[in-house]
Amino acid sequence: MERVCHINDILPGTSQGFRYSPFGHDDIFLVNQGGIIYGYRNSCPHWPGSTLPLKKGQYLDEYAKHIVCRGHGALFEIETGICISGPCRGERLTALSIEVDEHGNVFVVTA
Ligand code: FES
Repeated sequence: MERVCHINDILPGTSQGFRYSPFGHDDIFLVNQGGIIYGYRNSCPHWPGSTLPLKKGQYLDEYAKHIVCRGHGALFEIETGICISGPCRGERLTALSIEVDEHGNVFVVTA
């Protein structure tokens, strides 16, 4: 189990990437939706290994309703990681198991 951040590092309606890799991008990202933290690998099912954001931490669309891949515009449900629009419709992001302790520390249980 790996501590990634504190819940206050990701405000509701925002996202953030973590684990900067030797390849020059964050390996995983977290989204805070209404106080619940969801985590996924930063790899688009349309083109596995291809990362989602244009800028660090920007994984959500302008309404903060969906995760968006800037490659070809795929939209994913925040809660499930399922692609609901775009070239990989029906496929899903790889979900991480996330835990938040009583102090607000956010852990990745499996990755
Ligand atoms: S690489 Fe993500 S939509 Fe094409």
